[in-house]
Amino acid sequence: MNVLLRSPRPSRARPVRDRLAAAGVLAAALCAALPGPAAAWPWSRDMTDSIAIKPQAHPMPFPRRSVPVPDTATVRVADKEAASKLLNPIPSTPDSVNQGKALFTIYCTPCHGVSGTGDGLVGEKLVLRPFNLTSPTVQVIPDGLIFGYVTFGGEVMPSYGNDLSPTERWHVVNYVRCAFGNRCGPAVIAKSAAK
Ligand code: HEC
Repeated sequence: MNVLLRSPRPSRARPVRDRLAAAGVLAAALCAALPGPAAAWPWSRDMTDSIAIKPQAHPMPFPRRSVPVPDTATVRVADKEAASKLLNPIPSTPDSVNQGKALFTIYCTPCHGVSGTGDGLVGEKLVLRPFNLTSPTVQVIPDGLIFGYVTFGGEVMPSYGNDLSPTERWHVVNYVRCAFGNRCGPAVIAKSAAK
């Protein structure tokens, strides 16, 4: 009986070994067929080697006007008094006046108003009211002093030297002259040069 019982064992053990071997081959085949997990090795460096841009890896170009570039008109002027002696180098062409109008609308109308009289929504709330740019007392000041006001600001008025390039500031001056002083065209330059 014993002999009979024991004798079939080796033949029953073989299929189990075979099955284990087959499972091993299948696992190996699966690993080979799935390159994804295999390529992610070693796991510890996954995050370092991500697609994120590394510091200094791709230096980006500087934003416009953040660094001086050749041929950019720069005007160094000490203060408003020095600025008032500057002559307006930008001819009061329709194009310049139009550019000045666009900039005035953005930067100046909140206080001086579309009309230039100082009735802007912000201007109305100021204790020192924005000067009326249409008044003869403002219109007699030299172009350079308007340039100086825009560059340095006043007691209450903010400075726009960092926001507007010198050329843009002269466009604004040309607009202030044309829209509020009724002086458009090349005569503006002749008048400011005479001062
Ligand atoms: C926050 C409100 C405000 C804004 C914005 C503003 N101003 Fe003024 N501005 C004033 C006030 C207030 C005065 C009165 C003087 C002072 O502040 O010293 C003034 C005065 C002036 C004067 C002086 C006139 C004179 O006879 O002395 C000029 C020129 C002028 N502004 C032009 C401009 C222009 C051009 C802009 C846009 C680039 C502008 N302002 C933006 C408030 C403002």
